[in-house]
Amino acid sequence: MKFLSSCIFVNLLCMALALPSYMSPRSHKKAPGVPPASFSADPSINVTGIYAAALASNTDMLASYPTTPGRKFIANIYGDWQNLENVSAFHFMANMDVDCDGPKEHCKGNRDGQPLTSFGALDATQVPYFVLPERFTREFKSILKDNALGAIICDSQIVYGIYGDQNADRPEVIGEASILIGQTCFPNGQMNGGNGHSKNDVAYIVFGSTVPPGIGRRTIDIQALKEIGDSQMKLLQTALGL
Ligand SMILES: *[C@@H]1O[C@H](CO)[C@@H](O)[C@H](O)[C@H]1NC(C)=O
Ligand SMILES: *[C@@H]1O[C@H](CO)[C@@H](O)[C@H](O)[C@H]1NC(C)=O
Repeated sequence: MKFLSSCIFVNLLCMALALPSYMSPRSHKKAPGVPPASFSADPSINVTGIYAAALASNTDMLASYPTTPGRKFIANIYGDWQNLENVSAFHFMANMDVDCDGPKEHCKGNRDGQPLTSFGALDATQVPYFVLPERFTREFKSILKDNALGAIICDSQIVYGIYGDQNADRPEVIGEASILIGQTCFPNGQMNGGNGHSKNDVAYIVFGSTVPPGIGRRTIDIQALKEIGDSQMKLLQTALGL
C-alpha cells in the first residue's frame, strides 16, 4: 500500500509524453534471450488489438482516481466490458507504481512497505499482483472479488496478476502493481520500491468475478493464473470481435 511517482515534479511533461503513446503503443523488440514471464499471455492473444480496444472503450464510467497525489492525471475506470458475451471485465489506463508489501517489504527504495497485503501476506517479489483504491473496492464489491484476475498491458506485452492489495493513501491513487510485475513489464526501468513507471500508458483489465485457483497466503499457483488468464483474454478477444 503506497504511492510513489517520479512524475510528481514533472507531471505536465510526463503527460505530454504519455499522450502520443496512447495513439501508437510501442512495439519495440524485447532484448534477445529474455524468456517471456511464466505469467505472460499466450502469443495468440492480440495485444495491439486489445490495447486499442481498451483505449477506445470509454463509456459507463464507474469511478475516477488520480494516479499521483498531485492529481495531475485522473484515471477513469470503465464498466463497458461488464456485459460482453461470456466474459466480464472493467478497465482503466494508468501509470505503474511499485508495491513491495509482504515478506520482502524492505525492498530497495521502499519507505512504506507493510508485512501484510489485503487478503494475506503476498510476497511482492514472487507474486504478480496489482493494487486498487480501497474506496473503489468497497463501492464495487458486487463486481469485484478478493484476489480477482487481472490482465495488465504494459510496453506491448500482457502479464496476468491478481487483485491482492488496496491503496488507502490520501488521496487514494490508482496504478500500482507488485515489484514482480513492475520489473517484468519494464525490465530496463530501474523499477523498485522508490521508482515506478510514470507514463499513464498501462492498461489494467480486471475480470472481477474470476478468481484463479491456487492462491495461498504468501504465494500463488502461477501456472493456474496463466491458464485462466489466457482463457479469459481469449474470450475477451472473441467478444471484442478481434
Ligand atoms: C489485431 O487486432 C487489430 C485490430 O485492432 C487488427 O488490425 C490486427 O490484424 C489483429 N492482429 C492479428 C494478428 O490478428
Ligand atoms: C459463448 O458461450 C457459448 C456456450 O459455450 C458458445 O456457444 C458461444 O459461441 C460463446 N460465444 C462467444 C462469443 O464466445
